[in-house]
Amino acid sequence: MTVKIFDTPQVQDFLNTVAGFDQAGGSERAKRIVHRLLADLYRLIDDFDVTPEEFWATIGLMNELGKGSQFGLLAPGLGFDHYLDMRMDAEDEARGLAGGTPRTIEGPLYVAGAPVAEGITRMDDGSDSDSEVMWLTGQVRDTDGRPVAGARVEIWHANAKGGYSHFDPSQSEYNLRRTIITDAEGRYRARSIIPSGYGVPEGSPTDRVLKALGRHGQRPAHIHYFISAPGHKHLTTQINLAGDPYTWDDFAFATREELLVEGRPIDDAAEAEARGLEGPFTEVVFDIELSRTEAPELQSRHKRPRALEQAAD
Ligand code: DHB
Ligand code: FE
Repeated sequence: MTVKIFDTPQVQDFLNTVAGFDQAGGSERAKRIVHRLLADLYRLIDDFDVTPEEFWATIGLMNELGKGSQFGLLAPGLGFDHYLDMRMDAEDEARGLAGGTPRTIEGPLYVAGAPVAEGITRMDDGSDSDSEVMWLTGQVRDTDGRPVAGARVEIWHANAKGGYSHFDPSQSEYNLRRTIITDAEGRYRARSIIPSGYGVPEGSPTDRVLKALGRHGQRPAHIHYFISAPGHKHLTTQINLAGDPYTWDDFAFATREELLVEGRPIDDAAEAEARGLEGPFTEVVFDIELSRTEAPELQSRHKRPRALEQAAD
């Protein structure tokens, strides 16, 4: 039976009590936000005539998500990460800080503390001899085109099966995760392997939510970056390897035209030797432009829960 009780004084008074409006302690902001959130949900229950069975099934699903630490995986699929990016883009625009390489979502699979190298490194542990060798390189510049020497370029990506080290216990510690400090010309160079696309774990609570929406949990092949340098705005971004069927069908909504990079297959012994490689490889070039800023809070990544990162960092 459909009943409508949300607009009654009893429900409105009840909401005020639940949100702690009549209590002296606590946070005003928390009270106002929780009041708004609960009001929207109570109204939704009324409007959609949500049954107790539906409500408790949702609580069960949220418990499953929490048990598997999956809220961070589901958030990109529900567009929250991209929505926060859209807001930060608008803030940059309003501050006159637009320009440079565009940001896109961090995703939930970063791990703090990867090995640091000067200028050049190898990211894969050599255990995957079937995968394609990738030569990943680029130059960090400011928006006036001046090279940024000593920039910190943190890179992480999946292996050829779409798995990320740390979260995939079959991989060695920090496999495919490195920090490279740019050389005097602002350049970074890395030997690695071409990553595959990624999919949320089949049958996981995140997958169940997406399936209920008739959606998939696939991402195109991509490579994550954090780039920072004193006097410049911290950049969180990713590149997508062009030609992937999911390029414009990314469940996490992270693809941007400017961040699509075409790998260049090279089968030339001299070119391979010049990079210290033995055979054919694919070169992926990603140059990065950083906006300048003196504001210290814009020069580092924002806080969020991250694997192996102290909350105080
Ligand atoms: C997810 C995984 C990723 O590798 C990524 O880059 C973004 C999101 C996820 O599982 O939600
Ligand atoms: Fe990713």
